[in-house]
Amino acid sequence: GAAVEVDISGLKVGEKITVEWRGKPVWILKRTPAQIAELPKLDGQLADPLSKRHPDEFTPKYAQNEHRSIKPDVLVVVGICTHLGCSPTDRFQAGPQPSLPNDWEGGFLCPCHGSTFDLAGRVFKNKPAPDNLPVPPHMYLSDTKLLIG
Ligand code: FES
Repeated sequence: GAAVEVDISGLKVGEKITVEWRGKPVWILKRTPAQIAELPKLDGQLADPLSKRHPDEFTPKYAQNEHRSIKPDVLVVVGICTHLGCSPTDRFQAGPQPSLPNDWEGGFLCPCHGSTFDLAGRVFKNKPAPDNLPVPPHMYLSDTKLLIG
């Protein structure tokens, strides 16, 4: 399939854009320092915090780290739930929210069967989704130019 080039020079901190790659939504999120700092604190609540399950399918080598990304602030994931393929919605509001973990900096909630994901696309424990959101193959062509695929 065709690779997609994305210019992220205009992406602001805390902002998320969606691009299409192979007919799938790919999210690019520029995480805030608070959001990055929270990631390792969530490990105990996650089903596969280090993305060890099916790494070839869901997490390329260069994203097998605590922020699941090449650059600590920029998350690149396929926005399709690994349960039955719905597209999760953004829950970026910090603080307690009904049926979501307390004190989190936000994440994604799948409206179909309630799977929740953190801001690295990592699924919380005891949710129907069996895996973290997939990180698509990608690389940086320059500091602000991404190639997905
Ligand atoms: Fe997302 Fe079922 S499709 S929880």
